Amino acid sequence: MSKNRVTRRQFLNYTLTGVGGFMAAGMLLPMVRFAVDPVLQKKGESDFIATNQKVADLTTEPTRVDYSFEQQDGWYSSEETGTAWVYKDENDKVVALSPVCKHLGCTVNWNGDKANENHFYCPCHGGLYTKDGTNVPGTPPIAALDVFPTKEVDGFLHLGKAEPR
Ligand code: FES
Repeated sequence: MSKNRVTRRQFLNYTLTGVGGFMAAGMLLPMVRFAVDPVLQKKGESDFIATNQKVADLTTEPTRVDYSFEQQDGWYSSEETGTAWVYKDENDKVVALSPVCKHLGCTVNWNGDKANENHFYCPCHGGLYTKDGTNVPGTPPIAALDVFPTKEVDGFLHLGKAEPR
């Protein structure tokens, strides 16, 4: 007889340890996967957000474009909305400006003040911006409006993340 013979007690210990370990792994792996899932998620191919605005319909007059997108914050997903002021410049290039005032963050409107036609106007403290988003000296805003990168996909406007100039 071999000296390495496994006793019945050892056999039961090995078997129970193996089966127990297998079952524990089966319960723990989904939990671990759930805990780290947001970290493992691939980000989208692009950070551009689709809008319902047809590029062909844009004119030289700034148009308010509202859009919505899904925001993922860890495990929490929510529907967010945003706005851009969009027009075509004299070279037919699409310009998309953030509506967030660079003074204290109110929302600017195109032609929002009758006394200042063809300007973006912030009603909170009378901030003014020219059509290209430049802040008018002597009014509260300290910088130009942020600009969205844009692209056209199947005729529709897509907006990137607004950036300062
Ligand atoms: S927040 Fe726009 S002018 Fe103050």
